[in-house]
Amino acid sequence: MREALLAQARGCAKLGSPMYAELLRRAADDPGGAVAGVLGERAKTGFVLGMLGTVHRIVLEGRAPELAAYYPTAGATRDPLGAWPAFRDVLVEHAAEIREGLADPPQTNEVGRAAPLVGGLLAVAEATGLPIRLLEIGASAGLNLRADHFRLLHEGGAYGPESPVVLHDAWRGLPPVDAPLAVVERLGCDTGPLDATSPEARRRLLSYVWPDQTARVERLRAAFEVAARVPATVVRAGAADFLDGLAPEPGAATVVWHSTMWAYLSEDEAARLLRRLDEAGAAATGEAPVAHLSFEGRDASRLDAVQVVALRLWPGGERVVLGEGPSHGLPVTWS
Ligand SMILES: C[S@@+](CC[C@H](N)C(=O)[O-])C[C@H]1O[C@@H](n2cnc3c(N)ncnc32)[C@H](O)[C@@H]1O
Repeated sequence: MREALLAQARGCAKLGSPMYAELLRRAADDPGGAVAGVLGERAKTGFVLGMLGTVHRIVLEGRAPELAAYYPTAGATRDPLGAWPAFRDVLVEHAAEIREGLADPPQTNEVGRAAPLVGGLLAVAEATGLPIRLLEIGASAGLNLRADHFRLLHEGGAYGPESPVVLHDAWRGLPPVDAPLAVVERLGCDTGPLDATSPEARRRLLSYVWPDQTARVERLRAAFEVAARVPATVVRAGAADFLDGLAPEPGAATVVWHSTMWAYLSEDEAARLLRRLDEAGAAATGEAPVAHLSFEGRDASRLDAVQVVALRLWPGGERVVLGEGPSHGLPVTWS
């Protein structure tokens, strides 16, 4: 367990969370065994993230005021690197609840992935000249179904309306920014959908962001504001079931989009999905086009630190790689 915790501490240090890196280093040397009391022998990545996430949720719910004083997300007044003694106390006091939380799959919805999405939608708008029906599979809370309401800053200036969500350094190079972009439908699915307007779901999403990654936390909170005024629906369904009966619609471009979710699909479901998309594509016409837009690893069946923006647009359906970026989406470098 000690080795596993130290390895994850190194990962957190590399990915920009000095606070979690320090907590996990201290956890690895925990002489009182508070961590062992929660994790037992289960020091795998998912469980450690589950432990950190459940503690973070307890902090956000105001049930650990001593520890909250170290959490930037809860308005820290003390140095986050000094959180360990208060963190250990919370592990002991809430051990049963944290053990239960380990079974919950971490749930994230990364707003930075709006950068590849908006660029891809612009490519579809330019090619078709039509408004867009946006369908997202693995949408989580559906925050990116509102991506056209975010403001994206890039080397040449800014794209998008004034918005609480401002994505800095969103694009290197440009997608076709002059194409007219109008989203007329926003519908998604997820096996564990969250309602972005509910305080409980918001705490759950925040709890899986590392508390000292303030830019991500700000993006997420700003996206909750946009979600409160721009309606979008996320239904509870597996991706392949959701796309059953997918058909083109005259007068609109039907876009099926997904980001960082393909690796969670079984081989069967992935194959069914591709068949559905091919069938809908075969029925597409110039007035009723269909697009498959994705931001996934080069080998989509595996999570990867670098992901590519890929588009298939029917009639035709040839796959084109439009750009690439880090898995959190910022910045996207357009080809
Ligand atoms: C890492 S999250 C990414 C969420 C969102 N696409 C984003 O980029 O922020 C993966 C999402 O896929 C969902 N998911 C996993 N398997 C699924 C399936 N078979 N059908 C639909 N959604 C699924 C999970 O519940 C989770 O919300």
